[in-house]
Amino acid sequence: MDAKHDVLVIGAGCAGMRAAIEAFDAGADVAIISKIHPVRSHSGAAEGGINAALGNASEDDPEKHAFDTVKGSDYLGDQDAIEILCDEAPDDVYQLENWGAVFSRTDDGKIAQRPFGAAGEPRTAYAADITGHVLLQVLYEQLMKRDILVYDEWFAWKLVVDEDRCQGVIAWDLMNGGLKTVGAKTVILATGGAGRLYVGTTNAYACTGDGMTMALRAGVALKDMEMMQFHPTTLSPTGVLITEGCRGEGAYLLNSEGDRFLKRYAPNAMELASRDVISRAEQTEIDEGRGVDGSVLLDLRHLGAEKIIERLHGTRELAMTFALIDPIHDPIPVRPGAHYHMGGVDTDVWGKTSLEGLYAAGEVACVSVHGANRLGGNALMETITFGKRAGRHAAEWALANTTVTVPEGAVSDAERELRELLDRDEGERPWRIRDELATTMHENFGVFRREEQMQRQGEIVSRLRERYERVVVEDKGNVFNSDLTQALELGFLLELAECMVVSGLARKESRGAHARPYDYPERDDDNYMRHTLVTWEDGRPQLDWRDVTMTKWQPQERKY
Ligand code: FUM
Repeated sequence: MDAKHDVLVIGAGCAGMRAAIEAFDAGADVAIISKIHPVRSHSGAAEGGINAALGNASEDDPEKHAFDTVKGSDYLGDQDAIEILCDEAPDDVYQLENWGAVFSRTDDGKIAQRPFGAAGEPRTAYAADITGHVLLQVLYEQLMKRDILVYDEWFAWKLVVDEDRCQGVIAWDLMNGGLKTVGAKTVILATGGAGRLYVGTTNAYACTGDGMTMALRAGVALKDMEMMQFHPTTLSPTGVLITEGCRGEGAYLLNSEGDRFLKRYAPNAMELASRDVISRAEQTEIDEGRGVDGSVLLDLRHLGAEKIIERLHGTRELAMTFALIDPIHDPIPVRPGAHYHMGGVDTDVWGKTSLEGLYAAGEVACVSVHGANRLGGNALMETITFGKRAGRHAAEWALANTTVTVPEGAVSDAERELRELLDRDEGERPWRIRDELATTMHENFGVFRREEQMQRQGEIVSRLRERYERVVVEDKGNVFNSDLTQALELGFLLELAECMVVSGLARKESRGAHARPYDYPERDDDNYMRHTLVTWEDGRPQLDWRDVTMTKWQPQERKY
């Protein structure tokens, strides 16, 4: 064993850093492993804000926030978890402010809040349009203040499970090469999502579902994996996120005829309907020939230069850099792109998984506060509130238990597996398989889903998995061997894709992001107000179900 800690956090985005801070403050010896430097984490791409019922822009309270979240989730979110999120959110945001988060301000000096999709009140606190970036910096400062150890640029590959307990992780040291074993009384997965399953995505290259697959391989269930959220405004053609904050500030969506088409899909909420509704509306416009080169247009021009520069300067910069468009003068071409996995590692409201000693928080986890459709601004809030809760519980458990064992066999098995991969001199390059996976997932498991396409995707993924068995890593070196890590990441993605297809085929209804307009166009609460749960047995996903937890809100028709 190369090192040992009470609590080991894998991933250093907002959830991971918030978990580590809480575990440290609870008295634990804590460390973080991350394959990239903390402030480069994908949380930095969450632009528009963080939701908490602060009531600075209108009369608001946590109950209204909870109701909007339950309704937004298309009644698949667990209402106990949602109530916790919305009740704890205001204090958690003030904590960030006290740590130095530079939120945008109202004229009288309070934290400013902007409208966001499917929210009944302007509830999204923001730092212009770089909120995630600001939070990463603040949390990193808090890590440094506490001198929390970060194993920076270590690629976590396998969980160590011994005596039915998670007791650490085996990682590849990116800078120096070689496997490293870190023992821990508790491990918190905070590795983010898996948007790289899709060719068109807002997600960074690092978002390859590592934690989800590590948990799956360790026997933990993944929940609601069919629920991949498509964000309505991703920049064409790169997929870079153009924040919902634009629409919060009043931007319009137009089709090729200059028509604000949402009046036909969401006449009340218009551009502030929920993401699933707007993505479907855009896709319909594009499919029916009213798009512009496979996109629709996001028009900010009427907001005026002053507002755009003050509140949406990051968006302007992105549009100018990646599409050569200045939104002060021209509309931005946008289209739906894979953005956020509502599904993930099944946890309770403390981030605990079914495997003792293993926790998960943030996008890697499914607690589930987002159900079938997440509200914009709720993801950053989830990272903070549930990162904190996982950190606290993991620390308490670790401080009450003493031993850590990493069996020699776990390390030698990992070394053998790696050697077999690196010793192979002939075979297929991983990028071919990765590109085929991402293209076909987009075609066959996108905004709209058809039975036969999902079946075909299942067959495609099985064949890709067979080809993956013969994948060759050409770089045999030790220093920053991204050829190796990309091959390992591809292994993670392939298993997740299989879980998604199995879950999607089983859910024979339309709910939130899972839209089956051709065979099951309606939501079916009698049969499917349930979570899908997938475990991995004998190299294949096994499906199970669990009822949604309800507290106060009975399902209603969802109109925007
Ligand atoms: O559009 C956005 O700013 C994204 C925010 C989110 O996904 O929560």
